[in-house]
Amino acid sequence: MLDTKMQDAINDQINWEFFSGYLYLSMAGQFSELGMPGGQNWMTVQYQEELAHAQKMFDYVTTRGARVTLEAIARPQTEWAAGLDMFKQALAHEEKVTARIFDLASLALELKDHATYNFLQWFIAEQVEEEESASDMVQKFTMAGDQPAGLYQLDKELAARVFTPPAPAA
Ligand code: FEO
Repeated sequence: MLDTKMQDAINDQINWEFFSGYLYLSMAGQFSELGMPGGQNWMTVQYQEELAHAQKMFDYVTTRGARVTLEAIARPQTEWAAGLDMFKQALAHEEKVTARIFDLASLALELKDHATYNFLQWFIAEQVEEEESASDMVQKFTMAGDQPAGLYQLDKELAARVFTPPAPAA
């Protein structure tokens, strides 16, 4: 059985994962409006990843015999001037998510909940990738600047991203 403090903290993170998905889906819409289908694809894949993160946490809480309480999802920003602005915000957002996952891991240790601590290791590794991919895109969009040819090439690269569902928890 999960300690209620741990249950509440994971519930809160489930809401954050859904909000992350909402934010990236909103960015997908903005990329569509900017005429960048590759960017739209990249953000849609990111949205799917966030839903998978929420689902993974949901499954863990219920497996431990605890209760998931779904809360309202905050309204995300809806407009950005350019791809670079979106990826800068994505990077800042992922850094916040990483800090929150670290806090969850610290709470698990404090409660001597080694099962949850172990479960969270997947998210700790995932956050390294999340930050790296957003940071990589900030660099690429910075290099492309306002050049249509550079942005066109970059958009083609973003179009190649595919969603791979994470492996179920062991
Ligand atoms: Fe679920 Fe992007 O972290």
